[in-house]
Amino acid sequence: MTLLGVNIDHVATLRNARGGREPEPVVAAGMAELHGADQITVHLREDRRHITDRDLEILRKTVRTKLNLEMSIAPEIVEAALAVRPDRVTLVPERRQEVTTEGGLDCIKHARDLERVIEKMRKARIAVSLFLDPETAQLEQAKKLGADMVEIHTGAFANARSARAIEKELGRIEQGVYALISLEIAPAAGHGLDYWNITPLLRRFEYPALVEVNIGHAIISRAVLTGLGAAVKEMKGLIAAATGR
Ligand code: PXP
Repeated sequence: MTLLGVNIDHVATLRNARGGREPEPVVAAGMAELHGADQITVHLREDRRHITDRDLEILRKTVRTKLNLEMSIAPEIVEAALAVRPDRVTLVPERRQEVTTEGGLDCIKHARDLERVIEKMRKARIAVSLFLDPETAQLEQAKKLGADMVEIHTGAFANARSARAIEKELGRIEQGVYALISLEIAPAAGHGLDYWNITPLLRRFEYPALVEVNIGHAIISRAVLTGLGAAVKEMKGLIAAATGR
């Protein structure tokens, strides 16, 4: 079965909106694991807009499944990763102004820098995944760089609206996955996956060719809405208990 990595970045986004302690991403990680998550994924961004160094340190001690750290190859972030030693790092491109990771890494253009970072991870026995668009030249370069896994950027598929565009993007992902399998690199997928597009993506393959999917925004958004009813009822109960005379 394809494994599920739950990205909890946006629990931290919500916490940081008030600068306080709630909701606690570490608790969210534990709850995700209790409900079947196979991995916890977090992105330590250079601007620390959601997950912080403190979160990462605690998660390293508390995550019982696998901890997958999405990160750029900025030297300061590489140092943080080597200090915390997640089970895997997923190397992603990062631009400060972007709302989220907008495209795959260009592992041809950045081959030299990536080589250095991958070597450091190898020495620290941290597995390496590269977040790439499903382009043959990029996937072949990932092999040269010795990546253990490639996470295919599914953003273009998630954003496609017409049946034709969806079919085109699914075809690109499919080709990428089979190319990775023949290169003996574990294929994963992520970005923009949700409760509607996950089924056509996974059903595209006759067997669970994708080793893992990483999903964040859709799961955290769903949790806010499915949890809202119970949260309102609970508050209403407290108000009734205090004033319902
Ligand atoms: N995988 C990678 C490499 C990412 O950068 C992200 C976004 O942080 C995700 C998966 C999760 O994307 P989403 O929040 O759209 O599910």
